[in-house]
Amino acid sequence: MNKNFYITTPIYYPSAKPHMGHAYSSIAADVIARFKRLEGNDVFFLTGTDEHGMKIQKAAEKENKDPQVFCNEISKTFIDLTKTLNLSNSDFIRTTEDRHKNTAVRLWELLDKNDQIYLSKYAGWYSVSDEAYYSEDEIDEIEGKKISKESGSQVEWMEEESFFFKLSDWQKPLLKFYKDNPGFIKPESRKNEVISFVSGGLKDLSISRTTFKWGIPVPKNSKHIMYVWLDALTNYISATNFFESNKFWPADVHIIGKDILRFHAVYWPAFLMAAKLPLPKQIFGHGWILSGEEKMSKSKGNILDPLELINEYGADELRYYLMKDVIFGLDGNINSDNFKSTINDLANNIGNLSNRIFTILEKNYDCKVPNVSSGYTINEKLVINTKEFVNIINNFEIHSYLKKIHSYSSSLNKYVNDNEPWNKKINSEQNIKNILYSSLIGLKNLFILLYPIMPYKSLNFLKNINIKETNLNLKLIGSKFQIEEQLSKPPILFKKYE
Ligand code: MSP
Repeated sequence: MNKNFYITTPIYYPSAKPHMGHAYSSIAADVIARFKRLEGNDVFFLTGTDEHGMKIQKAAEKENKDPQVFCNEISKTFIDLTKTLNLSNSDFIRTTEDRHKNTAVRLWELLDKNDQIYLSKYAGWYSVSDEAYYSEDEIDEIEGKKISKESGSQVEWMEEESFFFKLSDWQKPLLKFYKDNPGFIKPESRKNEVISFVSGGLKDLSISRTTFKWGIPVPKNSKHIMYVWLDALTNYISATNFFESNKFWPADVHIIGKDILRFHAVYWPAFLMAAKLPLPKQIFGHGWILSGEEKMSKSKGNILDPLELINEYGADELRYYLMKDVIFGLDGNINSDNFKSTINDLANNIGNLSNRIFTILEKNYDCKVPNVSSGYTINEKLVINTKEFVNIINNFEIHSYLKKIHSYSSSLNKYVNDNEPWNKKINSEQNIKNILYSSLIGLKNLFILLYPIMPYKSLNFLKNINIKETNLNLKLIGSKFQIEEQLSKPPILFKKYE
């Protein structure tokens, strides 16, 4: 039976149109989701938009729009982006949907029933931009303005009646949980950050607001709306219909950016423990896409627009470039010169190779799989151990996955260059057929492995060797062709740039 695999992206604030940071989280999650499908898992891949809270209400007011109308418009640009990026998401959740609101209410009621919520008064610092509370020692003052040391965003003093979640009760259970589940937070450096934060002590968390309306009303006290992070985190169980007919929760992994680690690795497991619900299995906090030395973000005005880059270079190309040049887990710079040279490298290494092999096949063999000598086995340098690729993805080392593919394509190029299947002076006819056959298997392996990264290009190649997306599986790696099987010559797959 197929194993379930549940992976999520963060749900994005539709306060403004999507940018490269959003595209990055989503592409990485899609790569893993597609690879897990190749492995034969039943994958549920979730993304969506986080539509409540002060930040969204203010963004809507600025445009003089009703918040729901505003969210509908911007959420649509995120849905469009899933298509442009060719994400294979199974669902797209919006926190303004009833299925989500109902689940958030159910979770609140459970916490309440388990005596985890009490009414009191909140007085402290709040950042609307981060939708986060900060304690006095997390605040700096620069030019008379109070800001969060961590994110640099402005904070304001807030005093209001509020419901609190008994987060302080969960310090010890959380620390024990991290200890018992050492793989829960990845990469390792982020785990240490979280453990030191929790070890420093946890205060009870304000989980409701009364000063604005745009949110889910608290059950039995609609003067309050739920704190947007409690609301938002619940999306991961609303989408699996957790309280009715859950198939996929607990999630295998939440892919998130490092800036929202605390919410996922501290608050979320604490809410779930308090509600006596199962916890996600892993949280992976990736780094930031930088522009120069700074995080790329709307407020800094240093955004590279993914749509513009896709228009110019293509979605697969952007996916490949981001996954190759930014080590997954660390911050990374991107720029258009490196982008172009990465695509040129693809054209030289992979595109050109496919073209050379198929030119000979078409010219001399009518594009049919040549007859290899009996007992022939593929050259050992072209044999792939798929387990190595599985392990790499299980460790979220997407950049290493690409490095290995690149090194395989170099071996394949070397094999072809050394053996010269076009050279009848040094090769017998049978030899040429054997070399072409091995090269075909090599190309097939390469394009199957490339599928999670560049689904369009991969399928565009594979259909010429009679492999469809529905049949794609890691088991096809190294599998034989039928002799005389009719193939066709793939189109030019990669453009070259000056
Ligand atoms: N709505 C919350 C998440 C709720 S999840 C239950 C949120 N939204 S966000 O739109 O601000 O950010 C979503 C994701 O985009 C985060 O993981 C964040 O790290 C990522 N990125 C935003 N800018 C980024 C970069 N410049 N680089 C990489 N990713 C960054 O937070």
